Amino acid sequence: MPITPATLVAPAKINLHLEILGLREDGYHELRTLFYPVDVPCDLLKIEPGHDDHFYIRCPERPELETTSNLIYKTWKAYGAATGFQPGIFVTLTKNIPMGGGLGGGSSDSAAMLKWLNSEAGDKALSQDEMIALAATLGADIPFFLMDGPAWAGGIGEVLTPATVDLTGMTLLIACPDIHVDTPWAFKCWDEKNGFPNIAESLTSQESGNKNPAPVSPADMVNDFEPVVFEAHPTLRKIKDNLLEYGAKKAAMSGSGASLFGLFPDRVTATFAAKALEKDGIEIFTMECQ
Ligand code: C5P
Repeated sequence: MPITPATLVAPAKINLHLEILGLREDGYHELRTLFYPVDVPCDLLKIEPGHDDHFYIRCPERPELETTSNLIYKTWKAYGAATGFQPGIFVTLTKNIPMGGGLGGGSSDSAAMLKWLNSEAGDKALSQDEMIALAATLGADIPFFLMDGPAWAGGIGEVLTPATVDLTGMTLLIACPDIHVDTPWAFKCWDEKNGFPNIAESLTSQESGNKNPAPVSPADMVNDFEPVVFEAHPTLRKIKDNLLEYGAKKAAMSGSGASLFGLFPDRVTATFAAKALEKDGIEIFTMECQ
């Protein structure tokens, strides 16, 4: 059956709040995090019919992504193995989300590919629960991108509850310095600093995700990665301090970094901060919150 060509928009995310609850037996960490989707920056995946059942990928800005270790390829392969639906496609990836920045770019690309495949798969299509389970095998942040809107996440990130987050009128500024943080390294540093705290056996993924996450006010929001990542990269602490000095009501790191975000009360204050940070060579994205 011929496929429908499409251009998929893969948004970024920030973590408004991120608590690490402990180390699990499988080596992953149990989290409690509040994901918030962000339209700027976003990646684009142009999908065109390929040859037979082959997969090709082109990424003019980042040719190093044109390999089979690309998560988009792994996603296509995993979906094919799970459903038997594996159409030949040609993907042109426009990479706008900085890599290694804690903004979920690779995860979002993977989720966009999953959603498109599922929309094309006809009677082989998976249910939403099956999609989330498959996404979690590909990466802990991917299930969130199958949701529509902000969500609390428990488990390793895959136990999701839609969240109401009202940032209306605020301007979100994301600062992306040219620093790349390796997520497994950041978790390892957190383990060492916190004495390898194992998560209580009684706290299963399901329970942690469903434990009725209490609303967290912006003032209480934390990112447990900050102490360890700031220790290794003091520049990041400085950028967070700058965001607050320039008028952000809240500033924090996203995921394991290195991106930081600030929530500003209005566009003028955010624009002033953006200009000041850009002078230091930091890439800036801004978005009016709806
Ligand atoms: O799932 P993903 O491939 O994005 O995770 C990358 C690495 O981050 C994992 O291999 C694991 O070391 C670590 N991780 C973790 N706990 C999580 C998510 C990721 O320890 N909840």
